[in-house]
Amino acid sequence: MDHSWLYDERKQIGTDYADDERVTEYDTGMQRLRNVSQEVEKVAQALIVSPFTTIWEIGCGTGEMALGLAARCRHVYATDVSPAMIRFARRKATERRVRNVTFQDGGFLSGYVPPEPVDGAVSQLTLHHLPDMWKLTALRRVAHHLRPNGRLFLRDIVYPSGVPDYDAYFAGLIATVRSAGGDDLADETIAHIREEYSTFAWIMEEMLKQSGFSVTDKLTERFTTSYICIRQWP
Ligand SMILES: C[S@@+](CC[C@H](N)C(=O)[O-])C[C@H]1O[C@@H](n2cnc3c(N)ncnc32)[C@H](O)[C@@H]1O
Repeated sequence: MDHSWLYDERKQIGTDYADDERVTEYDTGMQRLRNVSQEVEKVAQALIVSPFTTIWEIGCGTGEMALGLAARCRHVYATDVSPAMIRFARRKATERRVRNVTFQDGGFLSGYVPPEPVDGAVSQLTLHHLPDMWKLTALRRVAHHLRPNGRLFLRDIVYPSGVPDYDAYFAGLIATVRSAGGDDLADETIAHIREEYSTFAWIMEEMLKQSGFSVTDKLTERFTTSYICIRQWP
């Protein structure tokens, strides 16, 4: 079938995650700013991970979540559209002697998918790389590869819709990021607002519903929102 109309998800928008140097900087910055083990714990609980569980991570970046979950489950299939990210994550897996993770080039819309229906899926700070129409397509593809009643942990930057003044809202957001994470992260946030496709919370929630998920829990922390979802089975 002709797929020339498919969105080119390998084209970098905003931050360039295809650049090796940028990937190393990203990893260092995230290790400094985030509490990785707390994030892994949260996702493991949300996805009810056990030694029998299989997980698919989409947009795995430098691999911290996949490697953390691997210690608690049977297998993690971790995919990303950036070959530089995949190379970096594979190196980490080798260094840490983790064998139950498959890091493969693959996106929300195309490329590698798990060879078996998975029990859980996780994606953090990645779906905003796709315009809204393609977000729905992406979520449907995730649903398709989940077992019935399988779970999805989706975390991303979504915007509230009841904001009276977006100039003031974005200025406040950038100032908060600058004081918490420094100038580089503030610059990335500016590029994010200008070039990437974060959407409104209500659109995200309707898209989850339209792709066959029910949202069982939702948590907003600073500027990211996490949705814990169960794939409905007709
Ligand atoms: C902001 S980073 C987040 C990485 C990681 N999930 C984390 O929380 O640190 C976004 C990642 O999504 C990847 N990405 C962008 N578009 C994608 C797509 N359509 N499918 C899969 N991964 C994508 C990028 O290459 C990058 O590694």
